[in-house]
Amino acid sequence: MKINVLTLFPEMFSAVTGSILGKAAEKGILEFNFINIRDFSREKRDKADEYPFGGGPGMVMLADPIFNALESIEAEGKRILYMSPRGRLLNEESIKELAGNEELTILCGHYEGVDQRVLDYWNMEEVSIGDYVLTGGELPAMVLIDAVARLIPGVLAGEESAMEESIYSGLLEYPQYTKPRSYRGMDVPEVLLNGNHKLIHLWKFEESLKLTRKVRPDLFERFLENHGELTKDEQKVLEKVLK
Ligand code: ADE
Repeated sequence: MKINVLTLFPEMFSAVTGSILGKAAEKGILEFNFINIRDFSREKRDKADEYPFGGGPGMVMLADPIFNALESIEAEGKRILYMSPRGRLLNEESIKELAGNEELTILCGHYEGVDQRVLDYWNMEEVSIGDYVLTGGELPAMVLIDAVARLIPGVLAGEESAMEESIYSGLLEYPQYTKPRSYRGMDVPEVLLNGNHKLIHLWKFEESLKLTRKVRPDLFERFLENHGELTKDEQKVLEKVLK
């Protein structure tokens, strides 16, 4: 997958390229293209923003540098996302859909946003990562990139991606433990040490159900409405949790 990012702060993206995603880029599974919008300004001192017409606080990003940057990557007809608290909220479903694209282009806004004509002309999809406001679109873009990239085959180890399709999908993850078996008087649940994979699986399922019900009743309700086929034992576990 190719990911173009238009930003005033390309250096921030070392947080992405320095991690697992950087390794995926080295392997050729991902291709990143970070474009500094300021490089495409034709104003004095590479100015990229101006006061808004009609007044109001803050600055608005100029249309021209963004148009020039998009034209430099021949973005006509391409799917372009604009990170904005005004956008459609991301969730795992929309992330999956985005992961199916060969190429994505992401515009990161700053200050009070961008000239509306950028969004209109390039038919941009506004995307939000949550109902709170950040100082810019860079961190949201990194959240989106990370969530999308981990669904692309080869980016993560096989076992982790397989989880997506299991009965756990839609539930919060069960607790995890590693060595030592006993730490400061706290013991690892016995069931995880006995090597009985069926019992371990049922324990994990039960823990996921209990946790989801407690912390995210909305997700739990959704799971009840459309979970996949359950085995007899899984059904029993679910009934026990519902009691
Ligand atoms: N830019 C600023 N806040 C944002 C948010 N919550 N989501 C996406 N982009 C943003």
